[in-house]
Amino acid sequence: MTQDELKQAVAQAAAAYVAEYAPVGSVIGVGTGSTANFFIDALASLKDRFRGAVASSEATRKRLAGHGIAVLDLNDVEHIPVYVDGADEIDDGLNMIKGGGGALTREKIVAAVAATFVCIADASKQVALLGKFPLPVEVIPMARAQVARELAKLGGQPVLRDGFVSDNGNLILDVHGLTIGDPKSLEAQINQIVGVVTNGLFARRPADVLLLGAADGVRRIG
Ligand code: A5P
Repeated sequence: MTQDELKQAVAQAAAAYVAEYAPVGSVIGVGTGSTANFFIDALASLKDRFRGAVASSEATRKRLAGHGIAVLDLNDVEHIPVYVDGADEIDDGLNMIKGGGGALTREKIVAAVAATFVCIADASKQVALLGKFPLPVEVIPMARAQVARELAKLGGQPVLRDGFVSDNGNLILDVHGLTIGDPKSLEAQINQIVGVVTNGLFARRPADVLLLGAADGVRRIG
């Protein structure tokens, strides 16, 4: 199976999960990225069962709207039973690195509202230790250099994502070479740096369920 076929298989499994566990008339949280895009395509056939979706990025908002799925403002939504999103890395505790697509802040906000976070990933995303994938950190533009110096003190090598501006008008520093032994602490520590909006560690609010795609099928963990 190709990587795209694996992504498609987990996206289908996530749509089945949503059909089973999200009440009719509820609002679904939708992530960002190539795996999430397959999920949006699969969700289209279920759109009449739900009130609509909350998008974690402009790209996702456009794709949902393209399928005729109602996109709601998070401020008008109190309850999201299920949030479905991909990951760049995921460990055995279902802690993740996200933000390869630069949508980490909105993803973290929607995930914070959701009752259940379902991560959809092909087997290449599963790791024993997070950190090989450079950790994205969204920063307020005027704080870029100062935040980079602080991240270097933590042992990382921050690299400005070239030509990229987030949906929130901010910059992304991709931090290479971090040793992430304690993802919860590091997530909190980086978020304490003045000028950081948020970082791509999802450990304080990890996934609840992982749908992992491999050659022998989709495995559910959690
Ligand atoms: C977007 O900002 C990310 O958090 C994505 O969820 C993550 O990068 C996974 O993307 P793919 O499904 O494209 O690998």
